[in-house]
Amino acid sequence: MKALVLIGGFGTRLRPLTHSVPKQLIPIAGQPMLYHVLDLLPPDVEEIVLATGYKSETIDAFVRAHPPRWPVRTVPEAEPLGTGGGMKNAGGDLSDPFYLLNSDVIASADLGALRAAHAAHGGLGTMALAHVEDTRPYGVAALEGNDRISRFVEKPEPAEAPSHWINAGIGIWGRGALEAIPAGRPVSFEREVVPGLLERGVYGFRLARYWEDAGTPERLLHAQRLLFDDGRGGSGSRPKGSLGSGPIAAAADVVAAGASFGPYVTLGAGVQVGAGAHVENSVLMDGVRVEPGAFVSGCLLGPRARVGAGHRLVGQTIGEAGEV
Ligand code: GDD
Ligand code: MG
Repeated sequence: MKALVLIGGFGTRLRPLTHSVPKQLIPIAGQPMLYHVLDLLPPDVEEIVLATGYKSETIDAFVRAHPPRWPVRTVPEAEPLGTGGGMKNAGGDLSDPFYLLNSDVIASADLGALRAAHAAHGGLGTMALAHVEDTRPYGVAALEGNDRISRFVEKPEPAEAPSHWINAGIGIWGRGALEAIPAGRPVSFEREVVPGLLERGVYGFRLARYWEDAGTPERLLHAQRLLFDDGRGGSGSRPKGSLGSGPIAAAADVVAAGASFGPYVTLGAGVQVGAGAHVENSVLMDGVRVEPGAFVSGCLLGPRARVGAGHRLVGQTIGEAGEV
């Protein structure tokens, strides 16, 4: 089977960081979000097709420099085509069926079991579903007794939501789903296409463990905590001469003697944290400098951002080379 990964969104909810860094390349728990998504795929996947748009060249260059375990191909779109348009544009050569993944979902999901469930139901599609309290930002499914989806509503008002089971952005579809997408214009797969596919048999596959959409700063940091707590955060050794406790993913060349770290921190290449500074529950991308005595908590700091000496920074997203 091949896999199609949707990776063309603008990452608007992570600005200003995403003005220069595509959302999918933001590192969490030691590696870019995209690679945590790809890690879900079984080893026998034949090819991964990345349906890209915004910052396609940056993503293409990155996957060439850091090749995943599977052959990978980028298919860019000149104008954003939406999720369905992106599928149509990039889906010409996909297998029948194929995996469909959003590139910003962090989950514990067994895609082998998903494939088995898809084969057992014999429908056109099988969608992994996550159980959430607040369904407003998601696509919501109503399920029949055998997990067949009887209704699907994208981003409903709370009163209209048929359940708390939402599209996890992980699924398997037959090529018939691609054929149902109108060509040559932007299309939302979830809004415009999925409801019409239900009569052909679309089933839910309920995820039992964790799931998060890492599309906002708070949810991205929550996703990072989930990954670390699941042991998916790498080797975890603290920079030489630093103090602290809890999971950390630090590049080998980080300089942080005399600094301290709380739990859940990613430190990119060339990061410097001064003596007496403290960093927790944050992502510091390559080349970030935190000067002595500063305090950083719940922050996303873009490449080469700088936090001045003694400064207290809580819950902020700072773009590339930003200074505070
Ligand atoms: N190629 C391409 N072109 N990809 C796109 C485009 C586009 O125009 N727009 C968005 N994408 C990609 C994004 O990069 C992301 O990986 C995925 O498609 C979903 O887009 P989001 O913008 O993140 O959508 P969402 O989070 O509001 O909703 C989607 O995900 C939810 C789960 O996180 C929907 O699929 C919901 O039904 C779902 O519940
Ligand atoms: Mg999303």
